Amino acid sequence: MGQQPWMLVRMATIFFMTNQTLALSDIFEEGKSDKEILDNLLKTTRYDKRLLPPVRVNTLLEQARIQEHDRTQSLTVNVSVLLLSLASPDESSLKYEVEFLLQQQWYDPRLKYSNQSQYDYLNAIHHHSDIWIPDTYFIMHGDFKDPIVPMHFALRIYRNGSVNYLMRRHLILSCQGSLHIFPFDDPTCTFSMESISYEMTAIRYVWKNGEDVLRKSPSLMTLNAYLINNSTLVCPIKSSWRGNYSCLMVELIFTRDRAFYFTTVFIPGIILVTSSFITFWLEWNAVPARVMIGVTTMLNFFTTSNGFRSTLPVVSNLTAMNVWDGVCMCFIYASLLEFVCVNYVGRKRPLHNIVYKPAENILAQSNQKRNSMPMVPNEIITCTNCGPNPCTHTANNGCPEVSFLQVRKKEPPHPIRVAKTIDVIARITFPTAFAIFLIFFFYHYKSFTNVAHEE
Ligand SMILES: *[C@@H]1O[C@H](CO)[C@@H](O)[C@H](O)[C@H]1NC(C)=O
Ligand SMILES: *[C@@H]1O[C@H](CO)[C@@H](O)[C@H](O)[C@H]1NC(C)=O
Ligand SMILES: *[C@@H]1O[C@H](CO)[C@@H](O)[C@H](O)[C@H]1NC(C)=O
Ligand SMILES: *[C@@H]1O[C@H](CO)[C@@H](O)[C@H](O)[C@H]1NC(C)=O
Ligand SMILES: *[C@@H]1O[C@H](CO)[C@@H](O)[C@H](O)[C@H]1NC(C)=O
Ligand SMILES: *[C@@H]1O[C@H](CO)[C@@H](O)[C@H](O)[C@H]1NC(C)=O
Repeated sequence: MGQQPWMLVRMATIFFMTNQTLALSDIFEEGKSDKEILDNLLKTTRYDKRLLPPVRVNTLLEQARIQEHDRTQSLTVNVSVLLLSLASPDESSLKYEVEFLLQQQWYDPRLKYSNQSQYDYLNAIHHHSDIWIPDTYFIMHGDFKDPIVPMHFALRIYRNGSVNYLMRRHLILSCQGSLHIFPFDDPTCTFSMESISYEMTAIRYVWKNGEDVLRKSPSLMTLNAYLINNSTLVCPIKSSWRGNYSCLMVELIFTRDRAFYFTTVFIPGIILVTSSFITFWLEWNAVPARVMIGVTTMLNFFTTSNGFRSTLPVVSNLTAMNVWDGVCMCFIYASLLEFVCVNYVGRKRPLHNIVYKPAENILAQSNQKRNSMPMVPNEIITCTNCGPNPCTHTANNGCPEVSFLQVRKKEPPHPIRVAKTIDVIARITFPTAFAIFLIFFFYHYKSFTNVAHEE
C-alpha cells in the first residue's frame, strides 16, 4: 500500500501530460522548435493528408457569394510562374526549352499554428509526403527535361495556415509557328496545367492577383529564344471525356533573330545574285570569265542554300524560303543563260559572210533595204571598222567605197552589235527586276508579320 501515493502522482502526471498535448493552444507555445511544431502539426491523429483542406469561409459576404452561385466550396490554389531560362537548340527550331519556378499557394486551416511561435513560416520540405498538396500536372505538346528531385522544390507553411509550394520545372515545348512565312514568323508556345484527379468543384486554379503572375527572373538566361509577348490565360473551355477540370495556360510568343537570317541567308543571296550580274559588264566573248562567274555563283548559291536548309524543320510549307531560293536561282541561272545567248548570237557572223558571196543579189537587197532603213549608225560603225585598210587611207574615194561595201555586207544588224545590245539591256533589266523582287519580298513578308502581330 506504500506505493499508492507514488502511483497516484504518476497517473496524475501522465494524465496531465496527455491533457497538455491535446490542448492545441499549448503545443505551439513559445520555445518550441520548428521541427517539434511540424511533428505536432502533422500527427496522424490530427492531420490526414488524404483529405482536401477544408475551405474556410471568412465572411458572410463570401458565404453569400458561394450560395448565390450555388456551387460547392472549392479550394482555391493561387498560381504564379517565374521564368528562369528560355532556350532553343538552334535558331530555326520550333522546340523551346522553358525552365521556370511554379508557385502554388493555398490555404489549409488544419496547418495553422500559434502566433506565439518565433517562426514566420515552417520549412516543411522534409514533410513533402506528409502534407496534402495539389496533384498538378502539365498538359503540353512536348517533353519533360528531367524528373523532379527533392532539391527542386520548396514547401513553406505560414502561421495563418497558408501553404506556399514552389517547384522548378523544365519543359521542352513544341511550338507552333507559321512556317509559310518562315523566318518572319513568331512561334507561339503554350503549356497548361490542371489537376489530375480533382474536378473544378474540388479545386480551382487561379492566377495570383497582380501584375507579377508571370515574371522573368533577374538572371533570366536566353539562348536563341527571344520572348516578345506573354499572357496567362484560363484554358479555353473544353468538355473533355475526363470531366470538368480547372486549367490554367501560359502562352509565350517568341520571335526569331531577323539579323541572323539576314546575315546567313538574305545578304549572301543578294551578294551572289548581284555577282552573277557582273557578267553583263564583261566582253561578250570573254568566255572563261563569264562562264566562271555564272557557274561559281550558281554552285555557291546551291551550297549556302542547302547548308541552311539542312538546319530547318523538314516541313512542306516553307513558302517564303522556297520563293526566295527559287527566285534567286532563277536570276543566277538566267544570267548564265543570257551569256550563252549573247555568245551564240555574237558568233553568228561567219554565217553572214557565207551569205554575202553572191554579190549582185546582196547588192540589190541592200539597195532595197537602204531605202527603208536609216543608215547613219551602220555607216559610223563601218567607218570605224574599215578593217586592215583603215579610212585614213590617202585615196580620196577609199573610205566611201569601203564603207559602202561594209554597209552592204552588214545590212542585217551586226551580230556583235546585237550581242552587245542584249548585254546592255540585261544590265538594266536584271538589276531592276531583282530590286523589284527584293522590295516586294521584304515588304510583303514584313506586312505579313505586322498583321500576324495585330491578330
Ligand atoms: C489567393 O489570392 C487571393 C486573391 O488575390 C487572396 O485573397 C488569397 O489570400 C490568396 N491565397 C493564398 C493562400 O495566398
Ligand atoms: C496572436 O494572436 C492573438 C489572438 O489570435 C492576438 O491577440 C495576438 O496579438 C497575436 N500576437 C502576435 C504577436 O501577433
Ligand atoms: C498568410 O500569411 C502570408 C504570409 O504572411 C500572407 O502572405 C498571406 O496573405 C496570409 N493569408 C491570409 C489568408 O491571411
Ligand atoms: C509579359 O508581357 C507584359 C506586357 O505584355 C510585360 O510587361 C511583361 O514584362 C512580360 N513578361 C515577361 C516575363 O516577358
Ligand atoms: C501581348 O499579348 C496581349 C494578349 O494577347 C495583347 O493584348 C498585347 O497587346 C500584346 N502586346 C504586344 C506588345 O504585342
Ligand atoms: C465546368 O464547371 C464550371 C463551374 O462549375 C461551369 O461554369 C462550366 O459550365 C462547366 N463546364 C462544363 C463543360 O461542364
